[in-house]
Amino acid sequence: MRVLVTGGAGYIGSHTVLSLVEAGHDPVVVDSFVNAKPAVVARLERLAGRPVPAHRLDLTDAAATERLFAEQDFDAVIHFAALKAVGESVARPLEYYRNNLDATFSLLAAMAAHDVRRFVFSSSATVYGEKAPVPYQEDYEPLVSASPYGQTKVMIERVLTDVAAVHPGWKVALLRYFNPVGAHPSGEIGEDPQGIPNNLMPFLAQVAVGRRDHVTVFGGDYPTADGTCERDYIHVVDLAAGHVAALDHLDTMSTDVRAFNLGTGSGTSVLELLHAFERAVGHDLPYEIGPRRAGDLPAFWADPHRARTELGWSPTRTIDDMCADTWRWQSANPQGFPEA
Ligand code: NAD
Ligand code: WQD
Repeated sequence: MRVLVTGGAGYIGSHTVLSLVEAGHDPVVVDSFVNAKPAVVARLERLAGRPVPAHRLDLTDAAATERLFAEQDFDAVIHFAALKAVGESVARPLEYYRNNLDATFSLLAAMAAHDVRRFVFSSSATVYGEKAPVPYQEDYEPLVSASPYGQTKVMIERVLTDVAAVHPGWKVALLRYFNPVGAHPSGEIGEDPQGIPNNLMPFLAQVAVGRRDHVTVFGGDYPTADGTCERDYIHVVDLAAGHVAALDHLDTMSTDVRAFNLGTGSGTSVLELLHAFERAVGHDLPYEIGPRRAGDLPAFWADPHRARTELGWSPTRTIDDMCADTWRWQSANPQGFPEA
């Protein structure tokens, strides 16, 4: 299939582009590069061993998005493009609602106009909110998220459900990711956050490579085995394979819109991840236990059963693989992707 990959220069999108090529699909990247560097495209082409068409496009520009669909044919869309920093979304809600919703509206309008019916959406475990029982199951309701970022995912899931209902033949997979980490085993592409990383794994990697002096563990008094929060970390290459599985499954999906958790089904604590990263690097990492971060839940992980049975997908990479691959990427690229 010829697959439009929005946000394909970003962290998860870039890994998915490679998985698509490996599976025999033809990805076409669009990205505004608001949170990615153009240098990623040359790396993708080197790893793919073939050209990867990539266009600079801000999807909130509905006319430009429509022109793209008028000029090119697509069999499917995988929609990664979004702003994703939870804390920033609290500080700048309008920017998040506008970017994430308007980008999706432009895309859906162009798809409807050009009869493109297959859609895979980057949703998030954050849609389960604070009250869902663990492990999280796809049918849980009501979906609600504490942050504007998370709420854009809840809203877009609803928009997709309503739009698919009036377009016969549309098939939409809502992929709810847990905590994506790791990097391509080549060490050529990986997560490259701008500024101070919000997430734990890139923070550990930047401490290990000497860009930051220590990690602060946000809270050591949670009701968990070691007192630190537990999350369901999933290797980005496994996650990328989940997108290919979802894409290939769309035409035979049991309902027009279906949600799938993409997680491993087990939790790892902050300290367990830190110690795994120390094993990958080969020495201890300086850390201190600090106060809790507002909004963090003590522990959650996926019920991964639906993706396993219906998509035939399950992750294979371990926490040690996730740390080893992150470290290969970070140590080979201490400052991330080059600017030009
Ligand atoms: P990322 O920031 O690396 O990738 C997103 C890409 O979208 C970036 O390259 C950015 O430049 C682009 N983009 C943003 N707004 C755009 C617009 N208006 N037009 C065109 N391009 C635009 O983030 P990621 O970690 O790869 O996340 C990909 C998707 O997965 C996002 O939708 C994110 O919300 C979702 N997600 C991420 C995580 C995570 O922890 N990384 C977890 C759950 C869900
Ligand atoms: C993991 C654990 C922190 C940094 C976020 C979003 C979620 C999803 C994935 C998009 C937590 C602790 C972190 C640090 C720490 N994104 N931590 N020190 O919060 O589970 O999920 O990313 O959809 O919506 O909220 O991930 O990596 O930020 O934190 O102790 O410097 O690490 O408290 O327990 P989180 P994270």
